Amino acid sequence: MLIAVVAAVIGAVTTIAFDSYMYGKLDDQLRGIAVRADPPRGLPGLGGLERMDQPLEFLGGGGQPFGTVGAVVADSGEVTESRRTVENTTGGQRRDSSVPLTEAQNDKLAAVARDGKVHSVELPGLGGYRAVSVSTEAGLDVLVGIPSGEVEDALSTLIVVEVCVAGAGLIAAGIAGTVLVGVALRPLRRVAATATRVSELPLHSGEVALHERVPDAEADPRTEVGQVGGALNRMLDHVHSALHARQESETRVRQFVADASHELRTPLASIRGYAELTRRGGEPVGTDTRHALGRIEAEAIRMTGLVEDLLLLARLDAGRPLSQESTDLSPLVVDAVSDARAAGQDHKWLLELPVEPATVRGDGARLHQVLVNLLGNARTHTPPGTTVTARVRCGDIPGAGPTVVLEVEDDGPGIPPQLLPHVFERFARGDASRSRHAGSTGLGLAIVQAVVDAHGGTVGVRSGPGRTVVGVRLPADLPALAALAPAYDSQTRHRHITQL
Ligand SMILES: Nc1ncnc2c1ncn2[C@@H]1O[C@H](COP(=O)(O)OP(=O)(O)OP(=O)(O)O)[C@@H](O)[C@H]1O
Ligand SMILES: [Mg+2]
Repeated sequence: MLIAVVAAVIGAVTTIAFDSYMYGKLDDQLRGIAVRADPPRGLPGLGGLERMDQPLEFLGGGGQPFGTVGAVVADSGEVTESRRTVENTTGGQRRDSSVPLTEAQNDKLAAVARDGKVHSVELPGLGGYRAVSVSTEAGLDVLVGIPSGEVEDALSTLIVVEVCVAGAGLIAAGIAGTVLVGVALRPLRRVAATATRVSELPLHSGEVALHERVPDAEADPRTEVGQVGGALNRMLDHVHSALHARQESETRVRQFVADASHELRTPLASIRGYAELTRRGGEPVGTDTRHALGRIEAEAIRMTGLVEDLLLLARLDAGRPLSQESTDLSPLVVDAVSDARAAGQDHKWLLELPVEPATVRGDGARLHQVLVNLLGNARTHTPPGTTVTARVRCGDIPGAGPTVVLEVEDDGPGIPPQLLPHVFERFARGDASRSRHAGSTGLGLAIVQAVVDAHGGTVGVRSGPGRTVVGVRLPADLPALAALAPAYDSQTRHRHITQL
């Protein structure tokens, strides 16, 4: 753009200067000729009478360019006489002669202002002219014009040359600029590539191997790009140590929670045992003491559940490997729904199961816990009379491959909207007072997510008044499904809806 603007300015200034110089010269020449149309008195050979009779005689005098026109304009504005010099080469001799102008050319000349100034005029068939009027001493207005075609041609040539040179210059500058900028920015691109690779690393959890660094060649502090590269390397060093420190601290906290939960199990079991023993023992105890012992027992049971949940989460966080058995989800769901029904007689329980086995590879006990937590939520957070459907489906999900989908749906009031985005976070609960009364801790869905993550699956929730669905997708156990595939024709698959 800069070069284009500079070229345009240079071109414009050159053209204007050339234009005024050339027209200046042409006008000087014109004035020189015009003087001859009205020579001062006493010039030899040009008497007054002669001039009156032959006002255009100067055209035959030679010395003016071919094409020079002269015209006598009457006071009425009409051209009474006009001539144009032409080159006459008859008989091999070059002689000057003149021819009259046409009517149209005369009209154009008549329109030129007779104010003694030079004007441009376009004569039909002859092109551009510069013309000036002279008032002769004999009282006649004589118009003298010389062709400006050559000057116009020169100007057009100059403009064409300027445009071509500027265009070629711009193209050359563009190519050279692109090459230079490309070469100059190549190190910066390598720095950017390193930054991009780092940005694609999963840094949010776990032990991060942040070994990406800008190569030494791009970290030379003597260049600007090198300074950027060096600064990026130093920043990556800091980030690496910060992530390492974060991981160590997380590991310590996890270990602490796991150890604390583990250590708490034994005293809690003892508290429960002793409370039960005392309550059921033969020794007479008062009603208040019996009630207190019952409460101690209930709270100890609740605390045991909490401690077990914490221990499980700590172990899952630590990435402790789960057992990898081929597990059919359908029997697990049937068992879990039967248990849930026993605990929640006021709810209506439905089962929707596929005919073929819904086999996944994983830890049966943990998957059972997922079901218990989901069904427990559908029971404890919904009013009596709510219908709860446990559904298992098998299918190919685009991008995810063969998948087993487990859904627990209820038509209860739904998860509070403000809780919904955080429902899988630890200790996230809805109505705190109601939940606490029901013995809830807010760890149920967090455990679901941790177990499903550990199985390489995903979990999601959709909830609104009248419909809450928590869906779990687990990768199907491919070899197990393939072995059974011939036994099941996908067209004849149908779902069993069973009301327990
Ligand atoms: N099916 C549901 N219907 C309505 N609300 C639900 C449902 N499932 C979960 N919630 C809401 O989400 C919250 C979090 O559930 P989550 O299972 O994580 O904890 P919890 O059930 O409160 O406690 P815990 O399961 O540890 O005993 C619940 O407190 C409840 O408010
Ligand atoms: Mg729960």
